[in-house]
Amino acid sequence: MSTYIDLHNHILPGIDDGPKDINESVKLARELNARGFETVVATPHALGGKPAPEKILTTLNRLQEALVEEEIPLTLLPGSEQHITPDLLEKLDKKESLTLNNTSYLLLELPMLQPLPLFAEELLFNLNKSGYRPVIPHPERVVALQMNEHMLFRLHQLGALYQVTWGAFTGLLGSAAQKTARFMLDSSLVHLLATDAHHPDTSLLKIDKAALVLDQSMGQSYSKTMLTERPKKLIAGDFLDLPAPKYPESRAPRRVPFLSRLFRA
Ligand SMILES: [Fe+2]
Repeated sequence: MSTYIDLHNHILPGIDDGPKDINESVKLARELNARGFETVVATPHALGGKPAPEKILTTLNRLQEALVEEEIPLTLLPGSEQHITPDLLEKLDKKESLTLNNTSYLLLELPMLQPLPLFAEELLFNLNKSGYRPVIPHPERVVALQMNEHMLFRLHQLGALYQVTWGAFTGLLGSAAQKTARFMLDSSLVHLLATDAHHPDTSLLKIDKAALVLDQSMGQSYSKTMLTERPKKLIAGDFLDLPAPKYPESRAPRRVPFLSRLFRA
């Protein structure tokens, strides 16, 4: 029986760089269901309130009807992947931007190749202060984070959670992303996982190998937790009980013993 939940997915037709029409969306839904998913949060790219929530909801309802007609047991929930903008908090408060299933959790996308915007830290702080819980999608692909692992801890300190892509762990997104994903795993900074699928034929849907790799290093129930229990709590808007981040021991800055410091002085 299908029980998995995908928190980040571009399944809606003709709204972003996902499926170009409803047939392709139905095909993607069939693929997701065949791989064990029963619920998908539809998270089209959004910037500055566009596409408007009404457009996302109308498209979602149209696709959901088509899935019922096609007898594909996949439930779609509303969401968006909000690109970071200084006015995001205002847009959320005015309901001009969608959170994940109308909870306080939202996908907050950072620029992939450019430096982090100067307002990023202040925005994270203000979002948290206002009760929102920002989740940064695919941090492993954000060059500013790949190049500065301390920034991963810093943004988390300011309230950011991280959603890593399953495929990153098997190298589907390149070696830099794989290395960052691994570092995050070792640092207890992988809070959520998702496919970020855009098309039915994407290799990002092949999560089995990643699940195996993760279970081998984190314990047998890890992938199940990340595919069912944790996303279930998130879409219900519940608190996520997450482990505290830790700098991996093998990478921790070496502490100079007290006596050595004394002698050096
Ligand atoms: Fe995405």
